[in-house]
Amino acid sequence: TEIVSAVTPIIERWRHEEGPLLPILNGIQRELGYVPREVLPVIADALNLSRAEVYGVVSFYHDYREKPAGRHVLKLCRAEACQSMGGEAIAERLQSLLGVKFGETAADGSVTLEEVYCLGLCACSPAAMLDGEVIGRLDEEKAAEIAREVRA
Ligand code: FES
Repeated sequence: TEIVSAVTPIIERWRHEEGPLLPILNGIQRELGYVPREVLPVIADALNLSRAEVYGVVSFYHDYREKPAGRHVLKLCRAEACQSMGGEAIAERLQSLLGVKFGETAADGSVTLEEVYCLGLCACSPAAMLDGEVIGRLDEEKAAEIAREVRA
């Protein structure tokens, strides 16, 4: 398939290096924006690993996406400091404003919502990151702003 031909050079680039699996997965995610499930057997064959091994690594690292992301990616901190500052209510609010659950992409492709565990912004909790930009002290108003921004 097209996808397999897109990842073949990445696999070739790393297959003879030491510890090639993560660089290959990172390269694919950078290239395609996600790691399609259909390439996992191809990687497994190239590296002489079992499919289960490759699958295990992919699911262990939550940074690998299974599907293409939306136009925006919102990562919401779900760790303790943020939880203690009302993070749960904000999480609920954002999920309903955006019409997505964690790990999902909105049907219109506008946004992917992901959980993260500490963004290093505990002093400004609850915290989030929208397209790589940090947002601290989330409240209802900022949640509404985020929802407007991703729909724009
Ligand atoms: Fe949320 Fe650290 S716990 S930023």
